[in-house]
Amino acid sequence: MLSSSSFYMRFILLFSVIGLSTCLMRGNETDRLSLLACKSLIRDDPFGALDSWNDTLHFCEWRGITCGRRHQRVTVLDLQSLKLAGTIAPHIGNLSFLRIVNISNNEFTGEIPPAIGYLKRLQMLELFNNSLNGAIPPYLSNCSGLIFIGIGGNQLVGEIPKELGSLTELQYLGIHRNHFIGKIPASIGNLSSLNVLSAAYNGLYGSIPDSLGRLKHIRFLGLSSNNLFGTIPLSTFNLSTLTILDLGANNELRGSLPPDLFITLPNLQHIVLGSNNFSGPIPTSISNASNLLSFQAPTNQFSGSVPSLSKLHKLQQLYIGANCLGTGGANDLNFLRSLVNATGLRSVAAGANYFGGKLPETIGNFSMDLTEFSMANNQIYGEIPCAIGNLVNLELFSLSNNQISGIIPRSLGKLQKLVNWYLHQNQLTGRIPSSVDNLTQLSILYLGTNFMEGKIPTSLGMLQRLVVLDLSNNNITGPVPIEIFGLPSLYALDFSGNNLVGILPFQVGNLINLEVLNVSDNQFLGNIPATLGACIRLEELGTRGNRFQGTIPQSIGSLMGLEKLDLSLNNLSGDIPRSLENLNLLQILNLSYNHFEGMAPVNGVFKNASAIFMIGNNKLCGGTDELHLPKCRFNEYKKRNPKNLTLRLAVSIVSALLGVSMLALFVFLYWVKKKERGPSSSSSTNMSLLSVSYHTLLKAACRHPILIHQLQRDKIVILPPVREVFLINYLSIHDFLKIANFLNLTPIL
Ligand SMILES: *[C@@H]1O[C@H](CO)[C@@H](O)[C@H](O)[C@H]1NC(C)=O
Ligand SMILES: *[C@@H]1O[C@H](CO)[C@@H](O)[C@H](O)[C@H]1NC(C)=O
Ligand SMILES: *[C@@H]1O[C@H](CO)[C@@H](O)[C@H](O)[C@H]1NC(C)=O
Ligand SMILES: *[C@@H]1O[C@H](CO)[C@@H](O)[C@H](O)[C@H]1NC(C)=O
Ligand SMILES: *[C@@H]1O[C@H](CO)[C@@H](O)[C@H](O)[C@H]1NC(C)=O
Ligand SMILES: *[C@@H]1O[C@H](CO)[C@@H](O)[C@H](O)[C@H]1NC(C)=O
Ligand SMILES: *[C@@H]1O[C@H](CO)[C@@H](O)[C@H](O)[C@H]1NC(C)=O
Ligand SMILES: *[C@@H]1O[C@H](CO)[C@@H](O)[C@H](O)[C@H]1NC(C)=O
Ligand SMILES: *[C@@H]1O[C@H](CO)[C@@H](O)[C@H](O)[C@H]1NC(C)=O
Ligand SMILES: *[C@@H]1O[C@H](CO)[C@@H](O)[C@H](O)[C@H]1NC(C)=O
Ligand SMILES: *[C@@H]1O[C@H](CO)[C@@H](O)[C@H](O)[C@H]1NC(C)=O
Ligand SMILES: *[C@@H]1O[C@H](CO)[C@@H](O)[C@H](O)[C@H]1NC(C)=O
Repeated sequence: MLSSSSFYMRFILLFSVIGLSTCLMRGNETDRLSLLACKSLIRDDPFGALDSWNDTLHFCEWRGITCGRRHQRVTVLDLQSLKLAGTIAPHIGNLSFLRIVNISNNEFTGEIPPAIGYLKRLQMLELFNNSLNGAIPPYLSNCSGLIFIGIGGNQLVGEIPKELGSLTELQYLGIHRNHFIGKIPASIGNLSSLNVLSAAYNGLYGSIPDSLGRLKHIRFLGLSSNNLFGTIPLSTFNLSTLTILDLGANNELRGSLPPDLFITLPNLQHIVLGSNNFSGPIPTSISNASNLLSFQAPTNQFSGSVPSLSKLHKLQQLYIGANCLGTGGANDLNFLRSLVNATGLRSVAAGANYFGGKLPETIGNFSMDLTEFSMANNQIYGEIPCAIGNLVNLELFSLSNNQISGIIPRSLGKLQKLVNWYLHQNQLTGRIPSSVDNLTQLSILYLGTNFMEGKIPTSLGMLQRLVVLDLSNNNITGPVPIEIFGLPSLYALDFSGNNLVGILPFQVGNLINLEVLNVSDNQFLGNIPATLGACIRLEELGTRGNRFQGTIPQSIGSLMGLEKLDLSLNNLSGDIPRSLENLNLLQILNLSYNHFEGMAPVNGVFKNASAIFMIGNNKLCGGTDELHLPKCRFNEYKKRNPKNLTLRLAVSIVSALLGVSMLALFVFLYWVKKKERGPSSSSSTNMSLLSVSYHTLLKAACRHPILIHQLQRDKIVILPPVREVFLINYLSIHDFLKIANFLNLTPIL
C-alpha cells in the first residue's frame, strides 16, 4: 500500500517534472522564436544593436534582454534609444513573463499590437518618442498589473479607451503629443493609484470630467494644448497632492478660480493656465503659496489687482501678460515691490494689461537671476529706474507702448547680456546713451516713437549682433555714423521720421541681410546709392520725404524680393528704370512728387494700377490708362531717340535681354543657394523647419510682443543668422499653424 502509493507519488512527481521541463523547454523556445519574429520586423538597425540576437548566444544574453533567473524567461525588453526602425511584431504578446518593455526614442511605426493584452505580468510599457500610429488597443486593459503606460510622442489616433479605467495599479499615464481625440473618459477617475496624467498636445475635446477629482494621488495633471472647454470641475481643487497643474495654451477653458485655490492645493509648484478664457481675479490665496515656482496665466481675461507675492520666496516665473489686470492706478505695480523676496526670480512678463503707476526703484533689488522683464503695452508712467543696472543678467527688457518719460539711464550699459530691448512708443527724451557699446549681445533695439534727440552714438556701430535698429519717429539729428553700415547682421534699419542729415553712403551695400531700410522723412540728400542692389534680401525700401536727387539706380530693379518701394517726395529725376518692371512682388511703388520724366513703364508691376503712385511728376507721360498721365508726344520720343533708331533699339534690346538673363540667373542661383541652405541646416538637427521671413516675424513681434515672448517660451526659437523659424521638437505643425494663423504670419512649410 505504502510502496505502491509511494511509487504512485514518485510517478506523479516524475511525470510532473517531465511535464514541467517540457513546458519550460517550450516556454523558452517560444520566447526565442518570438524575439526572432520581433527582430525580423526591424527594418533598420544602424548601431547593429541586434547583432547579438543570433544563435551563438542564448537569448537571455541578447542585448536589451533580461531573463528571470529561475525560469529563463524574458522579463525585460529594453531597446531604448537605438534608432531602430520597423514595426512591433504581434509575437511580443507571446513573451508571457514580460514585465518591462522600453523601446522609447526609436523609429517604430505601425500599431501597438493588441496582442500586448496577453502580457498578464506587464508592469511598464514605455513606447515614448516613436512614430507609432493607430489607436490604443482596448485590450491593453487586460494587463491588469500595469503601473506605467508611456506612449507620448507618437502619432496615435482615436479615443482614450474607457477600459483603461480598470487599471487600478496604474500610476503613470503619459499619452501626450499624439493625435488623440474625443472626450477624456470619466472612467479615468477610477485610476485610484494615478500620480501622473499627461495628455497635453492632443485633440481632446469636451470638458474635464468631474471624476478626475477622485484621483487622490495625482501629482501632475497635464492637459494643455487640447480642445477642452467648460470650467475646471470644482473637485479638481480638492486634489491636494497636485504639484503641477497644466491646463494652459490653446484650450478654451473659462470661469474664475476659487479664491482659496492655493490653500486647497498647498503643494502646487507650477500652475499653467495660459491662452484660455479664464476670468475673475487671481486667487487671493496666492499670497500664501510659498511653494509656488511658476504662475503662468498669460492671454486670459484675469482682472483686478495682483495680490502680494511677498511670501513666494521660490517664485521663478510670473507670466500674466495679455490679461485685464490693473486699473491704471498708481498702486497697480505694488506686486512688483513684493517680488524682491523671490531670490530665484527669472522672468516677469506682465505686458498687455491695464497696469498704471510707476516702476518702483526696488526693481533694482530683484534677483540677479532675472533674465526677462516685460511690461509692454500698459499705462506705466514715470522714469526707468536707474537701479535697473543691477539686473546684470537681463536678456529681455520691454517697456514699449507705455508712457515712460525721462531719459534712458546710463546704467543700462551694465546689462551686458541684453539681447532684446524694446522701448518704442513712450515719451523718452534725451540722447541714446553712449554706454550702449557695452551691450555686446544686443540684437534687437526698438526706440521708435519717443522724443529722443541728439546724435546717433558712434558706439552703436560696435554692436556686432544687432539685427534690428529702430529709431523711427524721434528727433534725432546729425548724420548716421558710418559704422552702422558695417554691421552685416542687420535685418531692419528704421531711421524714418527724424532730423537726420547727410548722404546715404555707398557702404549701405554691405548690409547684405537687410530686409527693411527706411530713411523716410529726414533730410538726407545726394544720390540713392547704386550699391543698394547688393542688399538682395530687401523687402521694404523707403526714402520718402528727403532731398535725394539724381536717378533711380538700375540696380534697384534687381531687388527681386521688394514688396514696398517708396521714393516719393524727393528731387529724383530722369527716366524710371525699366528694370523696375521685374519686381513681381511689389505691392506698393510710390514715385510721387519727384521730377521723373519720359515714358512711364507699362509692363510687370506697372500694370497693377492700385500698386503704383506717380502723381506730382509733371514730365512723365504714357503709362497705363489708369494712371491718367498725359500721352507721350512723338517728337519728344524722337528727340530722345534720334537717327538710326532701329540699330539703337536692337542694341538696347539685346543688351537688356542680356542684362535680364544675367539677372535672372543670379537671382535663380541665389534662391537655389538659399533653398539648399535652409533644410540642410535643419535636417541634421532633426527639427521641424518652418521658414518665415524674419521681417514678417518681427512685424508680428512688434504687433504682439507678448505673444512672441510666449512663442519663445513655447519653444519657437528665432535664430537671426539663419532666418528661419524652428519649431523645436514638440510644438506640432498643427499648433504652429494655429499660432501663425493667429499672428497673420504666412508659414512656409
Ligand atoms: C530552456 O531551459 C532549459 C532549462 O532552464 C535549458 O536547459 C534549455 O537549454 C533552454 N532552452 C533554450 C532553447 O534556451
Ligand atoms: C553573435 O553575437 C555575438 C555578440 O555580438 C558575436 O560575438 C558573434 O560573433 C555573433 N555570432 C554570429 C554567428 O554572428
Ligand atoms: C526608457 O527609455 C527612456 C528613453 O531612453 C528613458 O528615458 C527611460 O528612463 C527608460 N525607462 C526606464 C524605466 O528605464
Ligand atoms: C505568437 O504570437 C503570434 C501572434 O500573436 C501567433 O500567431 C503565434 O501562434 C504565437 N506563437 C507561439 C509559438 O505561441
Ligand atoms: C482580454 O480580456 C477579454 C475578456 O477577459 C478577452 O475576451 C480577450 O480575449 C482578452 N484579450 C487579450 C488580447 O488578452
Ligand atoms: C522624448 O523626446 C523629448 C524631446 O526630445 C524629450 O524631452 C523626452 O525626454 C523624450 N522622452 C523620453 C522618455 O526619452
Ligand atoms: C469606473 O468609472 C465609471 C465612470 O466614472 C463608473 O461608472 C464605474 O462604476 C467605475 N468602475 C469601478 C470599478 O470603479
Ligand atoms: C472636497 O473635499 C471635501 C472634504 O474631503 C468634501 O467635503 C467636498 O465635497 C469636496 N468637494 C468637491 C467639489 O469634491
Ligand atoms: C471669452 O469670454 C468672454 C467673456 O468672458 C467672451 O466674450 C468671449 O467670447 C470668450 N472667448 C472665447 C474664445 O470663448
Ligand atoms: C520679505 O519677506 C519677509 C519675511 O517673510 C517679510 O517680512 C518682508 O515684508 C518681505 N518683503 C517684502 C518687500 O515683501
Ligand atoms: C560697461 O561694462 C563694464 C564691465 O562690466 C562696467 O564696469 C562698466 O561700468 C560698464 N559701463 C557702463 C557705462 O555702464
Ligand atoms: C528737434 O530738435 C531740434 C534741434 O535739436 C529742435 O529745434 C526742434 O524743436 C526739435 N523738434 C521737436 C519736435 O522736438
